[in-house]
Amino acid sequence: MLTILLSLIKEPILLLLSLLHSRFERDHFAPHPTAPFEGYYTRILTPEATILLILSSVRKATHKPHYVHFSYLPHPSSPSRDENLRIDLFPTITDQGEELSSPEGALGELVHLLPIHWHVFSIDSRAEYRIRIPGRAGQEEISGIGRAHIEKNWGIAFPSGWTWAQAFAPPRTPTPFGAPPSNDDSGFKLSLAGGQTLFQKAYLLSYTSPTTTLRFKPPFSFLPLTLSTPFCSEEIDSRAGLFKISVANFTHKIVLAVKGPEMHRGWIGLHCPLSGGHGNVFAYESFEGVVEVCVFRRGLGGWGYRWREVERRRMDKCALGFGGGYSFRVRTEGGKFD
Ligand SMILES: *[C@@H]1O[C@H](CO)[C@@H](O)[C@H](O)[C@H]1NC(C)=O
Repeated sequence: MLTILLSLIKEPILLLLSLLHSRFERDHFAPHPTAPFEGYYTRILTPEATILLILSSVRKATHKPHYVHFSYLPHPSSPSRDENLRIDLFPTITDQGEELSSPEGALGELVHLLPIHWHVFSIDSRAEYRIRIPGRAGQEEISGIGRAHIEKNWGIAFPSGWTWAQAFAPPRTPTPFGAPPSNDDSGFKLSLAGGQTLFQKAYLLSYTSPTTTLRFKPPFSFLPLTLSTPFCSEEIDSRAGLFKISVANFTHKIVLAVKGPEMHRGWIGLHCPLSGGHGNVFAYESFEGVVEVCVFRRGLGGWGYRWREVERRRMDKCALGFGGGYSFRVRTEGGKFD
């Protein structure tokens, strides 16, 4: 309780300092030891599979306070598609990490005043991987080069429902020197997270392509009382594996739709850092979605200011996740949303 009271005094000061001068900005990828929960999430996309690595802690929980997850999920089109590999560990950790820019900017200082934080460390990094699977038929080692998306969450509580989407162009098999690239999708990077706490919904969205960079955060991507606004609307149907969102500011608009397999077929269920620990399956994710992104700009023309489509792209192997009350499976399993 005292920690929370002190935070109520300290956090607004850190927020102000961080707004005033970049010298006071912290590395939000480093641990936040006062946050009740914290988790690191890495997705590596390889030509054959998605590799997931999750490290998560609910510091005060007595049951399963720590969670380590690894999975190797071959694409349905891959020859090794039946070789799904999954390891969940709930270790006991006695040592705590040492305390040491983010899509949230200075809002990242509000650990107790904003209940959940999201920081994307990398939207696209080269990742070399080597996985040894003792006893695997044929070959015990899988290795190669993929692309990694690395992010983390921390705060007091996970929202009661959330959506997450992430996509980038798949790693290409190297083309012979001097050969022209097959298309210009190599710069496609999308990451999006949003959810509902109490009666509000909010999204953070980042989209980059060879020709566009868009970033949206509240107030533009805020749905007060979960209602659509002239700037933001969304549609979620987890049974259909469908998520759509439209966010605009005064000059730019993005409309995107992700379609994954229906009824969570082939989706992976994951343990989440709820206040009681990790003894739950509270999120479902698919890595086989198809996302379509449309970008509009508003300019003067004809009858006044009109939206004009300036870009439209599709990308497959899009990650899509529904957590808590946003997943029909979690709802029918009678999940307790704490
Ligand atoms: C609207 O969004 C675009 C793209 O993220 C950005 O460049 C622009 O500054 C934003 N305008 C306002 C008023 O926030």
